[in-house]
Amino acid sequence: MSMRIAIVTGASSGLGKEFSLQLAENFPDVECVWLVARRKALLDELAGQLSLPAVCVPLDLTDEADLGSLSRKLKDEAPDVRVLVNCAGCGYLGNVAESDPKLLARMTDLNIRALTLVTNTVLPYMRGEGRIINVSSIASFCPNARMTVYSSTKAYVSSFSLGLREELRERNISVTAVCSGPMDTEFLDIGEIRGNSKMFKTLPYCDPKKVAAGSYAAAKADRAFYTPRAFFKLYRFLAKILPSTIVVKLAKT
Ligand SMILES: NC(=O)c1ccc[n+]([C@@H]2O[C@H](COP(=O)([O-])OP(=O)(O)OC[C@H]3O[C@@H](n4cnc5c(N)ncnc54)[C@H](OP(=O)(O)O)[C@@H]3O)[C@@H](O)[C@H]2O)c1
Repeated sequence: MSMRIAIVTGASSGLGKEFSLQLAENFPDVECVWLVARRKALLDELAGQLSLPAVCVPLDLTDEADLGSLSRKLKDEAPDVRVLVNCAGCGYLGNVAESDPKLLARMTDLNIRALTLVTNTVLPYMRGEGRIINVSSIASFCPNARMTVYSSTKAYVSSFSLGLREELRERNISVTAVCSGPMDTEFLDIGEIRGNSKMFKTLPYCDPKKVAAGSYAAAKADRAFYTPRAFFKLYRFLAKILPSTIVVKLAKT
């Protein structure tokens, strides 16, 4: 019989680390978790903290050869994937015209391309009932000027998740898009957002521990979207009913 596993991308820090730490209590049937990110030392350290066996899979999801190695590992081990958490992501602050093209490409490569291809690679191994959690953002509700590319990638993640959810309904695989507000993680430093965005200074913050717990509860309840905190639920509602040409002016980062 195949081993029942979960796969968490972006497991080395922030929200992905929280997803990994809370996996066993939420999915006691899962026998092993594959932890995916680039920094092997952090994955090894995390593996030692988990209450279920973990396999570290250090790879760069924007690298074609690394994506191929994930595909080969799945083929070799033929696991029964019960949970897939697509959490790896990045976002850089800056106007498109003044941005380093490498950073723009990194956002689309990781947030869109890698998330899509990982899902496509893993799905043949989700044979029974399964849960997919795709980490989107409140940035998906309306474009955020100065983070136009990031917010557009997250609009893709939410749209992709909803379409995929319909495709997988008959296979008993649920898909949930997580639309968190800001979290105090490495994301803010890597994207040079910390200290440089009035919006990020003003907004209430989400606790990654609570976001991971709420996301698992939403996935188990087969919900299409999970938005933590009443403030951001209200924003989601307003962004839906108001003209986007107005909301975009208020949503500048
Ligand atoms: N923090 C926020 O304010 C916020 C708000 C809403 C949504 N989100 C979303 O939440 C998710 C998690 O972000 P976070 O806040 O937890 O930030 P984080 O601490 O920077 O985590 C990002 C994770 O992605 C991994 N990663 C980055 N590039 C990768 C690559 N090329 N290949 C494989 N893994 C890669 C990182 O690991 P390595 O560096 O070891 O590869 C890390 O584990 C992202 O999708 C982000 O867009 C964040």
